[in-house]
Amino acid sequence: MTGALSEGIHPAEQSKYHAALFDLDGVIVDTAKYHYLAWKRLATELGFDFSEAQNERLKGVSRTRSLEILLEIGKLNLDEAVRRALAEKKNKWYVEYIQKMDESELLPGARECLVRLREKGVKTALASASKNAPLILRNLNIASLFDAVIDGNKVSKAKPDPEIFILGARELGVSPRDCVVFEDAEAGLQAARTAGMYAVGIGKADVLQSADYVVDGLRNFDVNMLF
Ligand code: G6P
Ligand code: MG
Repeated sequence: MTGALSEGIHPAEQSKYHAALFDLDGVIVDTAKYHYLAWKRLATELGFDFSEAQNERLKGVSRTRSLEILLEIGKLNLDEAVRRALAEKKNKWYVEYIQKMDESELLPGARECLVRLREKGVKTALASASKNAPLILRNLNIASLFDAVIDGNKVSKAKPDPEIFILGARELGVSPRDCVVFEDAEAGLQAARTAGMYAVGIGKADVLQSADYVVDGLRNFDVNMLF
């Protein structure tokens, strides 16, 4: 255990887990900046400002719900067909940005953590709300480090619903109680706990209230602690 880890030892830490499920944005890569650029471009085109602080409300939220929040901020009431076209436009810009991503954008320690877990025989899954997750994994050159990929194309309920993690455990062929989830958002941590999994928060302990344990980044996570 290092000083970077939060205080408090959860009883579950005594046991060893068999699988690790990872959120993507904020855990493995910082795609939030590209989502922000694309949403901001859309807001500008629609004639209103969209700040980085407001963008915090979109983290971990689905594309459709993100657009709803953006339009609330811009005080715009648009019909379904227009909204769908705007979401597609935003995604086209977002994909243009992430097409250019490469391994240098992996967050510190992410690859090493995945490699260490696999060396220990731990099963790994990605569990992200993003429909673009497969493209991002390819560009970061880490697709082969996951036994399963659960993305926005496979789930219908957003975190904090546990659906994405339950599905992840099922695809890995393990019981939820044998899984550890790595998440940077409260909603994701709540989803993990509801799924009956051990929840590691990536970020600040005062913000990530639902985490069983908090570490400031994967670079400071010692895999021997839980696996
Ligand atoms: C992640 C991000 C959200 C994003 C969502 C959907 O949860 O944190 O900001 O809106 O994925 O991403 P997508 O690539 O499908 O638009
Ligand atoms: Mg996240």
